[in-house]
Amino acid sequence: MTDTATTGPQRQTAPARLDPHLLRTDFPILSTVNRLGKPLVYLDSAATSLKPLAVIEAVDGYNRAYSANIHRGIYEMAERATGAYEETRAKVARLINAPDPREIVFVRNATEAINLVAYSWGRRNIGRGDSIVLTEMEHHANLVPWQLLVQEKDGDLEFVPITDDGVLRPEVFEVLLHLRPKLVAFTHASNMLGTINPAREMTEMAHAAGALVLIDGAQAVPHMPVDVQAIGADFYVFSGHKMLGPTGSGALWARRELLEAMPPFMAGGDMIREVHLRRSEWNDVPYKFEAGTPDIAAQIGMGAAADYLMGLGMDAVAAHEKDLVTYALDLLPREVPGIQIYGPAAEHRGGLVSFNLPGIHPHDVAQILDRSGICVRAGHHCAMPLHERFDLAATARASFNVYTIPEEIDALAVGLREVSRIFNR
Ligand SMILES: Cc1ncc(COP(=O)(O)O)c(C=O)c1O
Repeated sequence: MTDTATTGPQRQTAPARLDPHLLRTDFPILSTVNRLGKPLVYLDSAATSLKPLAVIEAVDGYNRAYSANIHRGIYEMAERATGAYEETRAKVARLINAPDPREIVFVRNATEAINLVAYSWGRRNIGRGDSIVLTEMEHHANLVPWQLLVQEKDGDLEFVPITDDGVLRPEVFEVLLHLRPKLVAFTHASNMLGTINPAREMTEMAHAAGALVLIDGAQAVPHMPVDVQAIGADFYVFSGHKMLGPTGSGALWARRELLEAMPPFMAGGDMIREVHLRRSEWNDVPYKFEAGTPDIAAQIGMGAAADYLMGLGMDAVAAHEKDLVTYALDLLPREVPGIQIYGPAAEHRGGLVSFNLPGIHPHDVAQILDRSGICVRAGHHCAMPLHERFDLAATARASFNVYTIPEEIDALAVGLREVSRIFNR
C-alpha cells in the first residue's frame, strides 16, 4: 500500500552514511528565504522538525483523495483511510521495535501520552506515600503531570540530580531506588543539555527495585535507533512533529498487559465496544485510549515520516548528528570568544547545543541571528528547573536534524561573532 509515502528519501546503501546535502532537496522549506532575502538556516529542530515532501504528500494525499473517517465506514474510501491509519501503527511499531502494533496508542504529542499514563495508570496505582522518581533534566511535559498526580494522591516526587557536566548521578539514583518507587520516569535525551541517558541500564536498575519505567523519547526517536524491547521499558512516548512528521501526531507505546489493565483516559466514540444508557464496555487496546475522531491526516503523515527515517537508517541518522555536534562543540568555542556551552562531551550527547554569550540575553542573540536567517531557540526550553540547577534564566539553543549541514554551524559561528561585535562595540 502506498497511500502514505509517495516520495521516498534519498536512500543510502550500507554502511549507512547520510548525504545531508542530497536529502535537503526532500525538504521544500529549505529553498525559501526570509524577508531580507536570506536563506533559511534552521537550527531549531528540537522544537519541531522540518517536514519532507513524503510527509507533506501523505497528508495532502489523505485530504485530497480519501478524507473519510476511520473505523466506521464500510465504503471503499473509508476502508482506505482506516488502512492507511492502521498501517501507520505498524510503521511506528517497526521504528521503535515494538513487538505488536496494538501496543501503539496514537496521541497528539508526547505531552498527551505522559498525561494519559499519569491519569490512567497513575490514578489507579499511585497512593498516599508512594514515590515517583524523575530527574532534574526533565521537560515540563515529564514533570507537571506527575506533580498533579502526587498532589492529588499525596505521593512524593524524588529527583535524580545531575553533575555540572549535565549527566545523571547513578549513585544517587541507586539510593533513591531504596525508597521502592512505583515509577521511574526520565527523558531518553535532554532537550536542553543534549545528554543521552543510559536508558537500558536505568530501566534494569528501576525494575530490580520493583518500579515501572516511563521513558520520554521526544528527543530520542527522531535522532537515534530506539528499541523498546532491548531497553525493556514499560512506557515509551514521543511526538510525530519532532521526527519529521506533522504537528498533532504522536504515540505512546506500552506493554500490552499494562494497557489492558489501565482504565480509559478520555471517553466517547471509538473507545467503546458497547454503550447502554447507564454503563459501557471498553473497546480493545489500543482503541480504548483513542476516543473521538483523531487527527487522521497527521497520524498518516507520521507513518510517512517513520518510513522516511527507516529508509535513511537510524544508525546513519545518529552518526550524522554525532558528527554535527562534535563539529559544533569544536568550532564554537574556537570561533566565538567567551561562549558558554552547557552539557556533556559529544560522546554522551545528541545533536543539540545550548549556550550563552557573556552579558547578552539569549533573546537578543536569537533576534540578531534571525536577521541572517538563522533560527535558534531562546528561553528556558520548557526546562525551568534544569535552568535553575545551572543558575540560568535562559539559554540559546541550536539543534540539528538529518537535513542540517556543517555549513549551517559555520553560519551560526559567524552570526554569533556578529552578535558579540554589536553588543561589545
Ligand atoms: C524532552 C521532551 N519531552 C517532551 C516534549 C514535549 O513535546 P510535545 O510538545 O510535542 O508534547 C519535548 C518538547 O520539546 C521535549 O523536548
